[in-house]
Amino acid sequence: MPETKKPQTILAIETSCDETAVAIARGTGEILVSEVASQILMHQPYGGVVPELASREHNLVLRPLIDHALSNAGMTIADIDAIAATAGPGLSSSLLIGNTTGKALALARGIPFYSINHMEGHLLSPFIGHPEGVVKSLALIVSGGHTQIVKLNAVGDYELMGQTRDDAAGEAFDKVGKMLGLPYPGGPIIDQRAPSGDPTTYDLPRSMIDSGDYQFSFSGLKTAVHYLLEKLPHDRENLPEAVTNDLCASFQQAVIDVLVTKTMAAARETGEKVIGVSGGVSCNSQLRSALTAACDKADLDLRIASPSHSTDNAAMIAYATAARLEAGLPSSGLGEDIDPNLPLVAG
Ligand code: KG4
Ligand code: ZN
Repeated sequence: MPETKKPQTILAIETSCDETAVAIARGTGEILVSEVASQILMHQPYGGVVPELASREHNLVLRPLIDHALSNAGMTIADIDAIAATAGPGLSSSLLIGNTTGKALALARGIPFYSINHMEGHLLSPFIGHPEGVVKSLALIVSGGHTQIVKLNAVGDYELMGQTRDDAAGEAFDKVGKMLGLPYPGGPIIDQRAPSGDPTTYDLPRSMIDSGDYQFSFSGLKTAVHYLLEKLPHDRENLPEAVTNDLCASFQQAVIDVLVTKTMAAARETGEKVIGVSGGVSCNSQLRSALTAACDKADLDLRIASPSHSTDNAAMIAYATAARLEAGLPSSGLGEDIDPNLPLVAG
């Protein structure tokens, strides 16, 4: 009888930006706990993430959050087989807190340490909870820092088909939200307001929609909203609610049109039948329904990460670690440093 390996119990730490997150997984099969301490309220008065405040908060919150996660899983650190932490991309001062804490714990316990790419965490997150695990597929990753189309051949074997040349989709949501006087982060609020508006009110650019490749550009759309606001006969600080809703709907539709068109074109070119969608922007309700409709029409199997695994979390880092372990990929060890610009695919 073939020997069945016992799934490893992994404690994962994610501190790449403004969420302190800890998760414990048993192999790819089970996420035992996933805890996120969000810093959104702390950064809100500044309209964006302040790196110095983010790293100080990670430093304060991380150790108690690890203890909390262990106690919620009914475990102690002695029950953990391996430690993982995000190595990049992200804010260097934030990455350092989680990565060095993880390394110190692994060293103290004498257990393996895995440096994990945050984007690999997002990429594999749509497969969490699926019994067949990670499958060959085409991926759209849409977050605050990245917008990428990736061909996923197998765990650890990825091809970057295209990405944004300037702003990420989530960044555009947040910057437009700020222009409209909405609280940070703009993405979830624009999502809430858009259904009350008319997406055809303002004709905004769908940049690069016909470029014939998988590159994106969202900075022109952001600038178009800026000039549109200057032309409107309203004081920016006191936009009528109906105008804000129409702006939210028109902007959001422009982003969705580009994301869906390019994803479907990449699916046609590659012939992939499974489409994975992840990253904070994949929480967007109208993006989810537009992708669902497009995939239904093209008879594709759509896997969108669950909302709790879309925005930054450590469950996706634990899952990526388990998937790498199960695929027989080696541990990075303690020698690998953080890299704020860590690419998903080495160029
Ligand atoms: O994946 P994530 O938590 O962090 C990064 O790795 O960047 O993504 C955060 C981004 C933010 O820009 C936020 O506004 C956006 O995801 N976001 C949304 C929604 N929820 C979060 N954008 C549009 N609609 C949403 N419902
Ligand atoms: Zn992220």
